[in-house]
Amino acid sequence: MKTKLVLLPGDGIGPEVVGAAVKVLRAVGQRYGHTFETETHLMGGCAIDAFGVPLPEETLGACLQADAVLLGAVGGPKWDDPTAKVRPEQGLLGVRKGLGLFANLRPVKLHPDLVDSSPLRRERLEGVDLLVVRELTGGLYFGPKERREVNGEVQAIDTMVYAEHEIRRVTHLAFQAARGRRKKVTSVDKANILETSRLWRQTVAEVSKQYPDVQYENILVDAAAMYLVTRPASFDVMVTENMFGDILTDEASVLSGSMGNLPSASLGDGLNGHGHPRGLYEPIHGSAPDIAGKGIANPIGTILSLAMLLRHSLGLETEARAVENAVDTAIREGHRTADLARNGEKALSTEDITEIFVSRI
Ligand code: IPM
Ligand code: MN
Repeated sequence: MKTKLVLLPGDGIGPEVVGAAVKVLRAVGQRYGHTFETETHLMGGCAIDAFGVPLPEETLGACLQADAVLLGAVGGPKWDDPTAKVRPEQGLLGVRKGLGLFANLRPVKLHPDLVDSSPLRRERLEGVDLLVVRELTGGLYFGPKERREVNGEVQAIDTMVYAEHEIRRVTHLAFQAARGRRKKVTSVDKANILETSRLWRQTVAEVSKQYPDVQYENILVDAAAMYLVTRPASFDVMVTENMFGDILTDEASVLSGSMGNLPSASLGDGLNGHGHPRGLYEPIHGSAPDIAGKGIANPIGTILSLAMLLRHSLGLETEARAVENAVDTAIREGHRTADLARNGEKALSTEDITEIFVSRI
């Protein structure tokens, strides 16, 4: 099978972790007889430096033509000036919106051998296997924003907006995902305060009637933040709006031992040339400017994102499993990057651990 993938390495450690994933991709191609064509494009801070904009038209055009997109990370101190007119993150939001990727799937699992890499106690972590479905093209990220002057001082406004159809479609996706798992959906909102959350809760309740086989509950976001560390194993699928999902998934990532481990898939209604969902795949971590260029970044989040890409956008389940198994095996054998290594354990470079993953494909 012939496939066109767009790579958006981005900024900071982005190019290092995407480079690692590409090595794994090549190994999968060889082992299973696929040709994966890849095209690399600029997006984020690197695109601002080259073209003055975070998402050049050419980049978005290439993403729209591709079967799937693999992204590293965007942003960094160089572009962090709060008064700047253009920001790297706008590029990422532009890709998400431009491809209509309204659902971001963030699975959180813990490899049994990484229990000691997590700050949580072993007994809390037993059985953790959850999927956060984060709404990705609405809410505060995309609502009207402005600065204005009132009584001689500056005010800033962000607006949280949700339409019923935006809530409905991501909820359907969450319930369908739950059917392939432990059949439980937890919807997270702040319905005691926010009007958008009250609409969210009403709409989710309506959609839930179409899934009588799936257990369904509502939790307020502040409580959810607490339960994620006090009883994380009680969650199966968690569905929530954009900003809550952003915050809760960084919190949930510590359950996996390191934020560097977690992959994500962003999907919408659009299909690619293979008749599968077109998607954007990226680790949930950021550009980690403090370790960029040192060759020590953990590539697991990006490599597991590649596995999700193979599964969801290309329908290559066997190949996806092969990648996941390669990572599992290497961890079981004791191979660790610096973020995962415990006292006394040897920390491997990005390149060295990637070699090990490649050899296990
Ligand atoms: C994420 C990131 C992004 C987000 C940033 C880089 C725009 O934090 O994917 O979680 O807030 O969505
Ligand atoms: Mn985030």
